[in-house]
Amino acid sequence: MKRLVVLISGSGSNLQAIIDACHTGVIDASISAVICNKAGVMGLDRARKAGLEAVTLPHTDYANRDAFDAALAERIESYQPDLVVLAGFMRILTDIFVKRFVGRMINIHPSLLPAYPGLNTHQRAIDAGDTVAGASVHFVTPELDGGPVIAQRSVPIAPGDDANALARKVLAEEHRLYPEVIRWFVDGRLTFSQGKAWLDHTELPANGKRLETTAA
Ligand code: GRF
Repeated sequence: MKRLVVLISGSGSNLQAIIDACHTGVIDASISAVICNKAGVMGLDRARKAGLEAVTLPHTDYANRDAFDAALAERIESYQPDLVVLAGFMRILTDIFVKRFVGRMINIHPSLLPAYPGLNTHQRAIDAGDTVAGASVHFVTPELDGGPVIAQRSVPIAPGDDANALARKVLAEEHRLYPEVIRWFVDGRLTFSQGKAWLDHTELPANGKRLETTAA
């Protein structure tokens, strides 16, 4: 069975969606460990409740970014994962770290990349007068939120939506999107080659595969 290591920093609602998908067999993989750079967050409770190894690795215990990333990489490698899943992991990773896991590390980002890399995506979309928002899953490369996009899900922005309302809607889509992409990887359908994302041996378009919302 394929092995996942999930990295989190906070509430872990995406982690929960992945845990559920592993339990129900939607994803044919096991989660070897959940690693968090902050103590006491809800995501760690979710991991423990699911009987998973929950590791707290506070970045504040390390002298600098390089030292933290080296410790993190070693810890991850100790589980020999097939895929490293960043699920709300709010740390910028060094190039050395990213290069070590390139092609086997993915991230979820709450915007329709390449729009709005970085933080405050929902407020920026509202301020720009956008009518559509969404989430993207991408392979992680050294460029922040810049790796090849694998898939996206979109939601309409309603006239009265504030950033919180929009975040809730996008998060609901994230919980559908992330398990599906992980399933592709685990099933051997999704690969990274020549700096690009491929699904079923076909290069994915620049915005990834657009998955339709099925919710009623
Ligand atoms: C999500 O919006 C994700 O896209 C972003 O951080 C948030 C994590 O939420 N990278 P959660 O911890 O999974 O609830």
